Amino acid sequence: MTVKTSPAGLFITLEGIDGAGKSSHLDALSQWWVGRGREVLVTREPGGTALAERLRELVLHEPMDPLTEALLVFAARRDHLVQVIEPALARGACVLCDRFTDASFAYQGAGRGFDLALLAALERWVQEGRQPDLTLWFDAPAELAAQRRAAVRSPDRFEAMDTGFFQRVSNGYAARAAADPQRFVRLDASLQRGAVWQQVLTTLTSRWPRP
Ligand code: TYD
Repeated sequence: MTVKTSPAGLFITLEGIDGAGKSSHLDALSQWWVGRGREVLVTREPGGTALAERLRELVLHEPMDPLTEALLVFAARRDHLVQVIEPALARGACVLCDRFTDASFAYQGAGRGFDLALLAALERWVQEGRQPDLTLWFDAPAELAAQRRAAVRSPDRFEAMDTGFFQRVSNGYAARAAADPQRFVRLDASLQRGAVWQQVLTTLTSRWPRP
């Protein structure tokens, strides 16, 4: 008798400053995993559940102090993890999440100057050890990302910040990447979209060669 065991779930996050182009690769990433026979769940933060999407609206559009902002982002994350991410990983799915906790360290921490030790405490408390298996960091210069944003959309509270803010956010991502080099892969997102996708593909095929 053969016993069918489900594969271990995979948790992959996409990070980068606004305008770096990360979200434009979600569809192709999803297709790649479907081609490997995986159930794929595409989701985002803040958001991913009805409650967390409501919190997202507040965080992106209402003025608030930095502690309130950090608490709301982590409250949304807790709901998302418990309701959606953990059950999907338990089924063996590949969860593709557009932003996760590295964004809190980059935006609330490095960008806004919020206490990193407090963010680390929230991370431990909310995630209970859960970390992504892979984080694709789409790294593009702050100036270039600003030009790309200006071409496509009207800004939310974060996107309206100046280049200096995004430079700090970038530095925040760099610090997180240096602290966890196994998990992070830095992609040069200043290149054309096709060339960025090639870097994503190289990363995937080297980590998960065809069985
Ligand atoms: P983003 O993911 O860029 O979505 P869209 O492409 O629809 O604009 O927007 C989410 C914003 O939320 C982004 O500016 C970064 C911010 N953010 C934080 O400040 N902290 C966090 O922990 C997360 C997940 C996002």
